[in-house]
Amino acid sequence: MKETSAAEKSANIKQDSDINQDIQNVQTVGTPFSDSAKMTMRNVDVFYGDKQAIHDVSLDIGKNEVVAMIGPSGCGKSTFLRCLNRMNDTIESCKITGELKLEDRDIYHPKQDVVPLRARVGMVFQKPNPFPKSIYDNVAYGPKVHGLASRKSELDEIVEHSLKRAGLWGEVKDRLSSPGTGLSGGQQQRLCIARTIAVSPEVILMDEPCSALDPIATARIEELIAELSQNFTIAIVTHSMQQAARVSHRTAYFHMGKLVEVNATQRVFTNPEHALTEAYITGRFG
Ligand SMILES: Nc1ncnc2c1ncn2[C@@H]1O[C@H](COP(=O)(O)OP(=O)(O)OP(=O)(O)O)[C@@H](O)[C@H]1O
Ligand SMILES: [Mg+2]
Repeated sequence: MKETSAAEKSANIKQDSDINQDIQNVQTVGTPFSDSAKMTMRNVDVFYGDKQAIHDVSLDIGKNEVVAMIGPSGCGKSTFLRCLNRMNDTIESCKITGELKLEDRDIYHPKQDVVPLRARVGMVFQKPNPFPKSIYDNVAYGPKVHGLASRKSELDEIVEHSLKRAGLWGEVKDRLSSPGTGLSGGQQQRLCIARTIAVSPEVILMDEPCSALDPIATARIEELIAELSQNFTIAIVTHSMQQAARVSHRTAYFHMGKLVEVNATQRVFTNPEHALTEAYITGRFG
């Protein structure tokens, strides 16, 4: 990997000295691309009305890779993540330009239906949001809608398997007909993960999935992410740098709507290439 020279770093630090003015000139440094891209984003701009929230972001997410997205509040992490399965479609003022692909498929193609897209690219939100249904039905809902099971026994199997993978089966197997909303926060979040994986997505997007959880529940979700990455591609937004360091392979640092740096996670947290990244991880802003 290319080392950053002292001259390059000092050039970057100059940008740090007047962030607001210079941020528009920032070019992404590091390794934003992947040889085995599952998702490919190029020159993505996102606007809410006249206000631009994402500026010219290009990034790949590799197959079976965990990419962490970090950066100060309001820098556009959730906005960018939501573009990846068209969650922003529901926001009327939101306009997206650029190229966003899932393998070879343009996810914004006018003929692309969002329902099958969201089955391939699932999402777990910051606040666990189980449906007001039983634990069983929360997990069975997606497979039913997508016609993934023709018999009740098949559906039972998918529900059990998904709950097992989400590390929740042991805690709920005797009360599958109880409401999902009656579980603890950490259990609800694992239920939502089970619901997401029940439709066998290829990519899982997670927006601060542990921010409402205690350290024990957080540790369980982090273990789960490591395990899921063997079969799924994961993009996770987090405010916890320790979490990004623990779970991800590459880390993307966003700042004021720009993608400043993408590098191997270990590198980002030990020897960041860009001064803005360094300022953030050392706590100078954020
Ligand atoms: N629905 C919306 N309508 C208008 N502007 C929005 C909307 N959602 C986000 N924005 C604006 O877009 C910018 C990026 O917001 P976003 O929520 O993506 O940031 P974030 O990095 O996820 O922040 P946080 O860490 O606080 O979750 C902000 O300036 C925000 O005010
Ligand atoms: Mg956010």
